[in-house]
Amino acid sequence: MSYSSFSFPTPTLFGAGATSELPSRLKQLRVARPLVVTDPGLVATEAFKRLEKVLDPRGQGQTWFLFQGVHPNPTEADVTETAAAYRAGRCDGVIAIGGGSALDVGKAARLLLKRPELKLAGYNYQDDWTGLAPFVAIPTTAGTGSEVGRSSVITIAATQRKAVLFHPELLARLVILDAELTRGLPPKLTAATGLDAFTHCLESFTSPVFHPLCDGIALEGIHLMVEALPRAYRDGHDLEARGHMLVAAAMGAVAFQKDLGATHSLAHPLSTVCGLHHGTANALCLPAVMRFNAQRKPGLYRRVGVACGLDVLKASAAEADARTIEFVEAFRAALGLNQRLREHGVKETQLETLADQAIQDGCHPTNPVPVTRQELLDLYRVLL
Ligand SMILES: [Fe+2]
Repeated sequence: MSYSSFSFPTPTLFGAGATSELPSRLKQLRVARPLVVTDPGLVATEAFKRLEKVLDPRGQGQTWFLFQGVHPNPTEADVTETAAAYRAGRCDGVIAIGGGSALDVGKAARLLLKRPELKLAGYNYQDDWTGLAPFVAIPTTAGTGSEVGRSSVITIAATQRKAVLFHPELLARLVILDAELTRGLPPKLTAATGLDAFTHCLESFTSPVFHPLCDGIALEGIHLMVEALPRAYRDGHDLEARGHMLVAAAMGAVAFQKDLGATHSLAHPLSTVCGLHHGTANALCLPAVMRFNAQRKPGLYRRVGVACGLDVLKASAAEADARTIEFVEAFRAALGLNQRLREHGVKETQLETLADQAIQDGCHPTNPVPVTRQELLDLYRVLL
C-alpha cells in the first residue's frame, strides 16, 4: 500500500503594499533583531528601499542587520557567511528578500544556526531540525516560488555540486507577496521568470504523482498566468497583474510537490553548461516536450487547454493537444521567448554533454511518459 501526504501550511500575506505589515508580523513572531538576506543587485532597488523604510521608518539605526552577499547560484560560503552575520548581530530571525537564490540562502542558514559545526555536505534529513530561527520570505520575482518551498538548492564547497536540502522545518513562518516589490522587474525578466512558473504548473499537473489538490492549484495557476503574464510584461506597473503573477508563482511551487518533468531536465543543463536563464531555458524547451509527450499519451493536455481558456473539452484528444501546444507556442512568442537554442549560444558540439546531464537530472522520472538519453538528445537537436 502506498500513501500520499498533503500539506499547504505556509501563512501568506498577499496584497500591493503588504510589506508595511512586516513590523507587526515580526512582533507576532517575536523577532526584534532581524537579519535581512539578499543579493548585491537588490540593495539598490526600489523594492529594497521600501523594506528599509518599513523596518526603520525614522532612520534611527541598527534595529536590523544585513547580509547582501548572495550569489546567483548560491554557495555554501553564502550560507556560512549569512549564519556568521546573524551571530554577529545577535539576531533572532531571518528575512530573505529577492529571487530564489536569496530565499534559498536565508532558508538554509538556519540549519547552521542550530548546528554551527555542520558542513552542508553532511546534512541529514533524519536529524532533529525543530526550532529553527523564524524565517520570513519576501520574493521580488514571480517565478521560482521558493518562498513556499521546503527545500534549498546550494552548491556544496567540497563537491562543487548542487545539493537539495529538504526539510519541512525549512518552511517560512510568513510569506509576503507584495506586488509593489515586483513593479520594477524588467519585461524580459518578467517573461522569463513567469514562464518558469507557468512550466511548474504545467509539468506538475501532468506528473503522474497522485495529488489532486496540487492538480487543482496547478490548473488555477495556469488560468491566472495566461491572463496576468502578458499584462505584467506589457505594463510593469499593472499591480493587479503583478499580484496575480506572484500568487500564481507560489501556486506553481506548491504544485510541484508532485515534481516536474522532462522540460526541467532539459532546462537545467542549459543553465549550468550554457548559462541560459532558467526560465528562458524552460520556455524554449516546453512546446517540444509537450509534443513528445502528447504523441505518446493523447489527450494529456486537454485540461491544460481548458485552463488556458480554449474550447477543447469535447475536441478529439489529438485536436485538444494540438490546440493547447499551439496556444503555449503563441503565448511564449508574445513574451519574446520563441528562439532556437543556437540563438542563445548553444553549440551542436555541446549537445552530447547536455544530454548526459539531462538524463542524470531528477525531474524527468515524473515526466508523464518515460524518456531515454537518446530521446533527450533528439529533443535538443529539434530545439537547436
Ligand atoms: Fe523551474
